[in-house]
Amino acid sequence: MSLFTISDLTKEYGEGGVKVVALKHISLTIPTGQFIVILGASGSGKSTLLNMLGCMDKPTSGNITFNETNITALSKGKMTGFRAEHIGFVFQSYNLLPDLTALENVEFSTEIAGLSRADAENALRLVGLSDRVNHYPAELSGGEQQRVSIARAIAKNPKVLLCDEPTGALDFSTGIMVLEVLKQIHKEKESSILLITHNQEIAKIADMVITLRSGEVQSVTVNQSPLSPAEVTW
Ligand SMILES: Nc1ncnc2c1ncn2[C@@H]1O[C@H](COP(=O)(O)OP(=O)(O)OP(=O)(O)O)[C@@H](O)[C@H]1O
Ligand SMILES: [Mg+2]
Repeated sequence: MSLFTISDLTKEYGEGGVKVVALKHISLTIPTGQFIVILGASGSGKSTLLNMLGCMDKPTSGNITFNETNITALSKGKMTGFRAEHIGFVFQSYNLLPDLTALENVEFSTEIAGLSRADAENALRLVGLSDRVNHYPAELSGGEQQRVSIARAIAKNPKVLLCDEPTGALDFSTGIMVLEVLKQIHKEKESSILLITHNQEIAKIADMVITLRSGEVQSVTVNQSPLSPAEVTW
């Protein structure tokens, strides 16, 4: 079954001034339940694509359907609702609130979706941070902060987890640990994960790799035997 169907998607930035065509007539089917890597050089359009899949932004033309819904036709308000219900986001920067503990940071987002403290605690357990729930962000390492942000994203049980360079700010071994957490979540929650990276080695852990180049899809490859994060190195 397909999760996202992308048809003839184009995104242009900069009305009036210098025009940048970030995505050029992209058509793609993204299957459900997979661990997908979106690979490409800086400026190739990865974040632009992810933001539109996550209803953060609208394309200039073309359509994206999520299950049966044409999300590109939604109003601003409906886009926000869709995002809150179905999408979890993880970014390179952790974006935690400094005055809230790890647990409160997760609860703060679960509250929006109307979930309980138990859900927040569960999410922190899943990322291996049960012993850090009362720590403030400044009292956590970078890898731990990123795991709090992952817990925050998954606490509401989103169908899709969208990760934009989640290991970008981390050293090698911490990055591997975060990838292992994401793989674990993929297995336990059976959620679909789309992860952006410019690192070809990280792409080896994916079920499917979509490579972008200058706003176009260069290739879509299926990994017959994805590696575990512990098996990759860079
Ligand atoms: N808000 C914006 N306004 C104008 N141009 C933009 C905007 N966002 C992105 N762009 C341009 O669109 C192109 C694609 O950007 P995008 O952020 O999608 O690339 P990326 O593949 O995520 O790169 P990186 O790996 O550096 O994050 C780039 O040329 C960029 O300069
Ligand atoms: Mg980007």
